Amino acid sequence: MITIEKTDSVIGARVHNLSLADIPDAGTVNDIEAALEIHGILIFPEQEITPQQMIDFSSTLGDLELTELEAARLENHEEIFVVGNVGKGLVSFSPDNDEQELEWHSDHIHHEVAARASLLYAKEVPDVGGDTLFACMYHAYDTLPEDEKRRCEKLEMIHCASGLDHYLEKQKLGGSNSLSGERQHKKVVRPLVRAHPLTGRPGLYFGNQVTIGIVGWDQNEAKAFIRDLTKHACQLGFQYRHKWTAKDAVLWDNRRVIHAGTPYDVKNTRRLMYRTTLRETAPIRSIG
Ligand SMILES: [Fe+2]
Repeated sequence: MITIEKTDSVIGARVHNLSLADIPDAGTVNDIEAALEIHGILIFPEQEITPQQMIDFSSTLGDLELTELEAARLENHEEIFVVGNVGKGLVSFSPDNDEQELEWHSDHIHHEVAARASLLYAKEVPDVGGDTLFACMYHAYDTLPEDEKRRCEKLEMIHCASGLDHYLEKQKLGGSNSLSGERQHKKVVRPLVRAHPLTGRPGLYFGNQVTIGIVGWDQNEAKAFIRDLTKHACQLGFQYRHKWTAKDAVLWDNRRVIHAGTPYDVKNTRRLMYRTTLRETAPIRSIG
C-alpha cells in the first residue's frame, strides 16, 4: 500500500512504499492517478530502475509519446527522452544564469497531441542548480480578479516551437544546444483557460516562451500580457521547487502545472535525466 506525504508547498507529495521497477497492479495505478489528481506532482524517491522498467511503469499509466528531437531519444529505448549535458549533445531548456527569464511550459503544449503527464528520472544531478520549479495553474486562475478571469476565458493562445528556439538562441548555452534546430515550427491554438478533464477545475494553460501570441492580438501586446500573466501565475506561493537527488523520479500533471528548469553549470557539472511522456487522452476544452 503506497503512502503519501504532502510537501510544504501548495502542490506536490512524496510517495513511499512503491518501486517503479515493478509493474503496478490496477489498484495501485488507481491510487497513483488519484494522488496525482489531488497533488499535481508526485515524487518517488530512491528508485533503482532500468530504462525498460521506466518505460514499462509509464506504459501502465497510458500511451507514451516520443520526443520530436529524434537525436535525444535513448538508443534502443526510444520512448525515453534524454535531457541534460551527458551523451550526444546538450539538451537544456534552462536559462544560462539567474538573471535570465525561465522557460515555463506544459510539455508538448505546442504539439498536435499534448502531454497529459510526464515522468522525469534523475540519473545524475549537479550539487548546485538544475532544479525544477512547478507552478499550480489552478491557484493561478483562482486568484485572478473576476474581470480578469472572464477576459482570460475568452483568449486563444498560439503555441509554437519557434518560441522555444528563439529563447534558446538568446541563452549563451544555446549555441551548443545543437538539437534545437530539429523542431518543426507548426502553430497550435488552444484556450488559455482549460477545464481539467477529471476535476472540471479551470486552470491556466500556457508557456512564457512557447506561447508566441494570442489570436487577434498584436504580437507585442500579447508578449507583454504573457509576461505579466507569468509573474502572477508562477509566483513563489504557487510553486513547488524540486531539488533533485539522484534516483528521484517525479511524475506531474501537465494539465494542471507548468514547470521550468533552473540554471546549472553545463560546462563543469553533469546532469542526466530520462523522461517519458504520456499522451493527452482528452480534448483540451475551455470552461463553460
Ligand atoms: Fe518540460
